[in-house]
Amino acid sequence: MAKINIVGVGPGSADYVTPVARKSVRQAQLVIGAQRSLNLFLVDIKGESVVLTAKNLSSVLEQAAESVKGGKNVALLSTGDPGFSGLLHTVLESGLFDTAEITVVPGVSSIQACAARLKISWDNARLFTFHDEVSEEEKEKLISALKCGRTILLLPNSHNFVPKDIANFLIKLDIDKEMPVYICQNITLENEKIISSTLEKISGQTFGPLCVMVIKQNSSKVS
Ligand SMILES: C[S@@+](CC[C@H](N)C(=O)[O-])C[C@H]1O[C@@H](n2cnc3c(N)ncnc32)[C@H](O)[C@@H]1O
Repeated sequence: MAKINIVGVGPGSADYVTPVARKSVRQAQLVIGAQRSLNLFLVDIKGESVVLTAKNLSSVLEQAAESVKGGKNVALLSTGDPGFSGLLHTVLESGLFDTAEITVVPGVSSIQACAARLKISWDNARLFTFHDEVSEEEKEKLISALKCGRTILLLPNSHNFVPKDIANFLIKLDIDKEMPVYICQNITLENEKIISSTLEKISGQTFGPLCVMVIKQNSSKVS
């Protein structure tokens, strides 16, 4: 049966691409992904490839669904892990693949890579993503997680909830402005940079879009 594999490609470096991800790509007749994801598989791609962009997402997903119906194996590349702010949600929500066999190939999330860099055991940490949506509900959950002493690993929104907006939002709500913050940029890539700072200092700084914000508390209470 033809199927769609949603393949996690890791945080960016070829060192973090798993053998099973490469195998899925080699077996696909159609490989779809952002250019930087496709570049990780240049030696593995045997079939057709299509560059995915924010603008062509709907039409390319329709093309993928048609290809699956036509009997092709399709690999859809998703940065990091497909299940965290990745393409799994997009595929399921689209309804285009309801009758297809869907397989998810896990990848190393940018969140995992950051936790490893900062030596954070994330059992009691809280994960947040504002990448696609900034909701009041999630903001409230963030505040209560911080008040419970949790360490936070968070994907900012690159337009209207960037790290400095998050810092200003938290300071206004009386979260300690000296709280330690790390901005992990371009993790695993050649230009990787991790900044160790505080909420107050971050509140005036601007960073590129490829970053994870970590608010590291010393003691994480379990509630
Ligand atoms: C669409 S989300 C995808 C997240 C992905 N599914 C994951 O598990 O890492 C894209 C966001 O992930 C974060 N991200 C992805 N790769 C990154 C990297 N190498 N370094 C820092 N942040 C990264 C950034 O916040 C970026 O805006």
